[in-house]
Amino acid sequence: MKPLTFVHLSDSHLATDPAWSGPLTDFLPRPGAEALVREIAALPVSIDFVLHTGDVHSDPERPEDYQQSAELYRQLRMPVYYLPGNHDRGDWLQRVLMGREEPARHADQEFEIGGVQFLLLDSGAPNMDEHYGWLEPEQLDWLTQRCAADDARPLVVAVHHNPLSLVVPWLDGILLRNGEALHEALLPARSRLRCVFYGHIHESILTLRDGIPYQSVRSSWFQTQTWHQQADPYKEALHWPGYNLVTLTERDTFVRHCRVRL
Ligand SMILES: [Fe+2]
Ligand SMILES: [Fe+2]
Repeated sequence: MKPLTFVHLSDSHLATDPAWSGPLTDFLPRPGAEALVREIAALPVSIDFVLHTGDVHSDPERPEDYQQSAELYRQLRMPVYYLPGNHDRGDWLQRVLMGREEPARHADQEFEIGGVQFLLLDSGAPNMDEHYGWLEPEQLDWLTQRCAADDARPLVVAVHHNPLSLVVPWLDGILLRNGEALHEALLPARSRLRCVFYGHIHESILTLRDGIPYQSVRSSWFQTQTWHQQADPYKEALHWPGYNLVTLTERDTFVRHCRVRL
């Protein structure tokens, strides 16, 4: 297998109003996202594609709001695969960023690149205002069937929300509520499952459960820094954007945690 390298980024939170910085921070989302694009475009390594695990836009008001993201990430001149987050509108994201004329109920995707199978799961919950994630039964059935299949290909899974408890109460309040069911569905494929990548928490944490790595990524906007059993949200003072540079080889998975100086 030829090494496959991709960028995992998340939570760009671009806003319709360029002066918007949200209720949690003074940082604007756009400069970080632009810096990330410049950095990735200048990397001295060949990148096969970008995986964006959601919160692409912060609460868009119309489908056209996604044009801003389309134009920004087009500068990378490589395929970008998107998942919606709790601040996205999945149907508009599918239309503008995924080119789906008729949006599906979920933005789930399956594709193969360089002999690696990718399964992307849309964890948008029925009530997006509460910010937790949810997988519908048919999504779990789909995943269960894929993971139980007789398939030797390396597998990568991606989702927006933190699938398992991070033992951080305020983050556990917005996790993927049926993430335990997701983990059960993944278990039969664990020998070929290289990693589950996710966003949402604006921080880089690796969880290893039953031999399955779950790896999050920093945001391109503002960061959090949490610790075990932390009760209240804490914002990191250093808000440099981050991304994961992932390389898959025949036997190994490499995740480099990169930061971009602003
Ligand atoms: Fe986010
Ligand atoms: Fe999120």
